[in-house]
Formats: sequence, C-alpha cells, structure tokens
Amino acid sequence: MTQDEKKRRAAQAALPYVKDGMTLGVGTGSTVDYFIEGLEARARGLRAVASSSNASTEKLKARGIEVSDLNSIGDLDLYVDGADEANRHLYLIKGGGGALTREKVLAGAARRFICIADDTKLVGVLGTFPLPIEVIPLARSFVARQLVKAGGQPVWREGFVTDNGNQIIDVHNLAITSPPELEAKLNQIPGIVTVGLFAQRPADLLLICGEDGITTIG
Ligand code: 5RP
Repeated sequence: MTQDEKKRRAAQAALPYVKDGMTLGVGTGSTVDYFIEGLEARARGLRAVASSSNASTEKLKARGIEVSDLNSIGDLDLYVDGADEANRHLYLIKGGGGALTREKVLAGAARRFICIADDTKLVGVLGTFPLPIEVIPLARSFVARQLVKAGGQPVWREGFVTDNGNQIIDVHNLAITSPPELEAKLNQIPGIVTVGLFAQRPADLLLICGEDGITTIG
C-alpha cells in the first residue's frame, strides 16, 4: 500500500466519529485533505465547522462546507488533524505545513482530538522530524540562539510566512525524551508564538494506517 493510500484510509477511519449536531475542527495537510473529501457527505448535519488554516478553509469551501469563526462557535466537540510524528503516549510533532498555531488553538478548544496518520509517522522517540516553531519575525535570531543553548540546531524556513504573518524555525537534532517538559521550557522563550510539540494537549485517539489496516491507540 502506498503512503498516500494509508493517509486516505486513516482519514476515512475518522469519518464515523463525526456525528450530526457536532461542532467540528478541521486540521491541515495531505491526510486531512482526504478527510475533507469524505466530510462533504456528512457536513450538512454539523452545527459548525472551524478550520486551522487558509488552505483547509479553501478546500472546505470548495466542497460547499461553510467555515465559521472559532470565536462564534465556542468549544469544539471534535478536532481531526494529521501529524508529522506521533508516539504511543499520543504526543505529537506538528507544523510541517506551518499551520501549528491555529492547529494548537483548535486542539485546545476541542473536547476530543483525533489524530490521523500513516504508519511512517509513528515513532518511539519524537524529534527525527525537525520541530517546527512559529516566531514573530523580529525575534527570529534571538529565538534561534536560545534554541542552540537548548541543544537544537535551528534552521529558518526561509521564504515561508504563516497565516498569522509570522516565520517558522525548524529545530533539528532534538531527541525529545520528555515532550511535556520540553514544550513547557520552549514556551518560556519570548518571541515564540507556538511550539509544534503537542504534549500538554496531546491527541485523545490516534488512528494509524499500516499494511494491515487501522490501528487505534488511545
Ligand atoms: C500541518 C501539520 C500536518 O498535520 C502535518 O504536517 C502532516 O501533514 P500530512 O498529512 O501532509 O503528512 O501539522 O501544519
């Protein structure tokens, strides 16, 4: 099975969790794109849909799904999103697509967070995938120096601007053995908007597709 087919199946596996009357948050990325495809048939029964990026908003609208401002919805019943890495504690690295800030807000606002991914994303220790960090532009070099002191190798994602008008630093060479602690520590650095570690608010359920089909963790 190709990685793409695994992404498609993981996304399909999340669809039965979407129930009429729900407020739903939609993540960002190629796995979520398959979820959006399948959502078209179910969206009519939903109370409201919030989006984590301009890219997903466009894709939802193209399928006739109305997107609401999170400020007018209140908390979400369910948030569905992909990940760049996930472990069995349901901790995640996210932000490969640069949408980490809105993704973290939606995950935080959700009563249930389901993460969908192909099995290449499931790892023992997080950190092989460079950790994305959104920074305000003025703070980029200062934050990068602090990240070196924290043992990482920061690389500016040059030319990329987030939906919030900020920049991304991808931090290489971090073996993240204690994700909640590292998230808390990095959150203290002034100028960081969002750390792409989802540990203080992990997923509630992981739907991972491998060669043998879906594995549910959580
Ligand atoms: C975007 C994300 C995505 O969930 C992550 O990059 C996974 O993407 P894909 O489903 O394309 O592999 O965090 O900011």
